[in-house]
Amino acid sequence: MKTLTVNSRKGGAGKTTVSVSLAMAARQAGLKVVLADMDPLRSSSEILRSREEAASMLIEANAGKLWVLQEGCRRNGCDLLIIDTPTQPESDIVQCINHSDLILAVARPTFLDLAAVKETIALVQRTGAPGLVVLNQCPPMRSGEENPVVVEAIERLRFGQLPVAKSVLRSRIAYQHAFASNCGVTEWDAGSDAASDVLRLLAEISRHMLLPRPHRIGRVASVARKGKRRHGTSAVKAMQSALKRLVS
Ligand SMILES: Nc1ncnc2c1ncn2[C@@H]1O[C@H](COP(=O)(O)OP(=O)(O)OP(=O)(O)O)[C@@H](O)[C@H]1O
Ligand SMILES: [Mg+2]
Repeated sequence: MKTLTVNSRKGGAGKTTVSVSLAMAARQAGLKVVLADMDPLRSSSEILRSREEAASMLIEANAGKLWVLQEGCRRNGCDLLIIDTPTQPESDIVQCINHSDLILAVARPTFLDLAAVKETIALVQRTGAPGLVVLNQCPPMRSGEENPVVVEAIERLRFGQLPVAKSVLRSRIAYQHAFASNCGVTEWDAGSDAASDVLRLLAEISRHMLLPRPHRIGRVASVARKGKRRHGTSAVKAMQSALKRLVS
């Protein structure tokens, strides 16, 4: 069982968006996933708690319960525990970082987010845990060229001592639609650009964390890119049958 902590010290960078999106995509890719909502604001819970299967995949917790939670997940055959963290207190974040296999530091490509992500990077370095920075809410590419804002952000992060994910999450309206429908973007519309972004990031994280069956997750990404646009439960069914075909 692997633990992924999603953190940023800056509010609104996208911790919840990334946590929920990765959790739901990993479930679709066949992993047994638990999402621990450690933010007292309970945003992840707000999105997912009305789902029938919420009891088996979502838990509202705090850092003090992390050890018990990890034990419970291990005993129940969970593959991946994802922790959506608050911006503070630092002691809670340190506890999560200390017990994680990977820390994903989320930052928008803005001056203030990049300044704030240095704090997460410093914490991760202090503990010696592996970490990865992911840029979120990036502007779209222009005529196949990366936006200068993103190029500059990657350049600034180059000296931050943590690798930067090759997968970039762009600003996409699909997240709003998906969360309003209590699901992840890969469920809401498997063929959307947002789904492709998330699946590419999931494949990259799977390689870092050595998650089970990473090849299946990687192949799902290409299914989503080629997939037809579908909505609601049919998107879920489309993804499920695509997965069945891939693994049969
Ligand atoms: N890639 C994206 N594209 C479009 N909207 C996004 C994206 N990422 C995040 N958002 C939006 O930005 C807002 C803040 O995102 P989110 O709640 O995930 O951040 P957070 O870091 O969890 O915030 P908090 O610090 O309050 O917990 C939300 O309205 C969310 O829907
Ligand atoms: Mg949040």
